Amino acid sequence: MSKHYLSEKVVNLPPSGIRVFFDIVATMDDVISLGIGEPDFVTPQPILQAGISSLQAGETSYTSNAGIFEVRETVSEHLRQLYEVAYDPGNELVITVGVSEALHIAMMALLNPGDEVIIPTPCFVSYQADVLLAGGVPVEVPSQFEDNFQLDPQAVEVAITPRTKAVLVGYPNNPTGAVASREVLLELSRIAEQHDLIVISDEIYDQLVYGQPHVCFSSLPGMKERTILLGGFSKDYAMTGWRVGYAAGPADVIDGLLRVHQYIIMSAPTTAQMAAMEAIKVGQQHVADMRDEYDRRRRLIVDGLNEIGLPTFEPRGAFYAFPDITPSGLDDTTFAQELLDKERVALVPGSAFGAGGEGFVRCSYATAYENIEQALERIERFVSKVS
Ligand SMILES: Cc1ncc(COP(=O)(O)O)c(C=O)c1O
Repeated sequence: MSKHYLSEKVVNLPPSGIRVFFDIVATMDDVISLGIGEPDFVTPQPILQAGISSLQAGETSYTSNAGIFEVRETVSEHLRQLYEVAYDPGNELVITVGVSEALHIAMMALLNPGDEVIIPTPCFVSYQADVLLAGGVPVEVPSQFEDNFQLDPQAVEVAITPRTKAVLVGYPNNPTGAVASREVLLELSRIAEQHDLIVISDEIYDQLVYGQPHVCFSSLPGMKERTILLGGFSKDYAMTGWRVGYAAGPADVIDGLLRVHQYIIMSAPTTAQMAAMEAIKVGQQHVADMRDEYDRRRRLIVDGLNEIGLPTFEPRGAFYAFPDITPSGLDDTTFAQELLDKERVALVPGSAFGAGGEGFVRCSYATAYENIEQALERIERFVSKVS
């Protein structure tokens, strides 16, 4: 009855395909979920302890808008060590409420009404929504199974119009698990330079790569000046609930993000900032251990899905497999609904992630090895019945 109070922008915002699906899952018993996009590990103990100690020391106030200076220094040093890219903690970094907030303030700070943002898809569900909420126009450029869902720079170039302001990329990719190669990213950097575009690079899964190095986009020649690098703690360090991440970029652009951030957020959670700093300082062995376990599950699920007859390319990053389910004869939404209904396995229809996702489903392997074994048995039984 009160819906007419809502803005057109919000009313027209499509609901997240993931949310709709998991509202159903929440009402069911005995479901094996390959649907969740977050680590199944608890935050490693020393990181937890840093948060607890910070609270016990009475650190319960706001921090500087951009985040605690020492935390920014630690992030800056971390990026320098990993990717040889240097960000000044004084004016080129802002600590955010996860990459979610960083995406939102980046779009709010960059876009004028009608500005276009090119988004290679399938992609994380928030990208299009963040562009729309900021008054921009998302322009989807689908990636192809035949290319292992690799970013297609030529397709990006074809999509450029006089209204294009930015390209928003996320590698390692959610939902496909694709990792962008250096060659492809260099090609994208050439295009960005030639057409004077800014690139927003969501690298939240940067440390979850298997046998292929992660390339930080802003570390490529000439790119630091036209990149907003988004990074986080949620996935690498199993810290989704802490709500902390960061944006790094040229000082004048970060100043723009900070203007939005200071009014809508004030400062990222103090406790989470302290825990995030500890994560960088002592978390590397924990990250390596979790990555090894994801890798073991990755091999199980990719081989299992291929053996069932659902072609699955080898994901080199994040914790998702993205099988082609067209051999079942069902579309991806029906496949997901019927699999849930008949065999109690939850996964996410590929079309929830934008153009190019149709005919695929996202299977998260951020769940116990034994769950994946059981889920594969159930999927096999389901596929053999329907196809
Ligand atoms: C690609 C990608 N970016 C950003 C996020 C949000 O991360 P955060 O918890 O830092 O807000 C997610 C979470 O699923 C994601 O998959």
